[in-house]
Amino acid sequence: MASTVTYKYIKQNPDIMEYIRRADKALEAQGYTEHSFAHVEKVASSAAMILETLGFDERTVELARIAAMMHDIGNVINRIDHAQSGAVMAFRLLDNLDMPASEICSIISAIGNHDEGTGLPLDPISAALIIGDKTDVRRSRVRNTDMLTFDIHDRVNYAVVSSKLRFNDSKTSIVLELEIDTEISSVLEYFEIFMKRMLLCRRAAEFLGVKFEMLINGGRIL
Ligand SMILES: [Fe+2]
Ligand SMILES: [Fe+2]
Repeated sequence: MASTVTYKYIKQNPDIMEYIRRADKALEAQGYTEHSFAHVEKVASSAAMILETLGFDERTVELARIAAMMHDIGNVINRIDHAQSGAVMAFRLLDNLDMPASEICSIISAIGNHDEGTGLPLDPISAALIIGDKTDVRRSRVRNTDMLTFDIHDRVNYAVVSSKLRFNDSKTSIVLELEIDTEISSVLEYFEIFMKRMLLCRRAAEFLGVKFEMLINGGRIL
């Protein structure tokens, strides 16, 4: 059965929007960085860019966008195991929209495997979601406006002056290019926070048959 559930439709679904908003509110109350629409839309466009560049079909790209849009809703239940709880929530939401089981499987596998520690790339959609999610570092994700009370996550995100995800010319590597203000956070501090995530990105890229490279302030780190 062909599905009619599109990314556009999901974005206009008031219930799904409410889960995204409330999940982000729960994280805000715990002092986490922004996980709302700016985050999930960025993840959706990165995941789509990766799969489009690698020549995947339109529906696979669309499913990756939908998975990205819904990937953090589990935070409304608890930060811990939010990938798994979010996958179960997405199952119910998408099943109610009559999405075919084969598509729901792809989406809930990707959501349930997006977090470092418990997640692994299982297929192209989950691999693209991992890379899109873990590479979203930017100053605008920091909510705390008082630099004196910044924690390490605030500092590291705030230090990222610019961040770009792209393919190299031969399309054999996905490149994360960061410009970090080292007055705010050192490259070492960046790695303290992001090491596990970058290693997961590397696994995800390998799954897609490409390399994952990282440039910080013009220097190659990975
Ligand atoms: Fe997450
Ligand atoms: Fe996320």
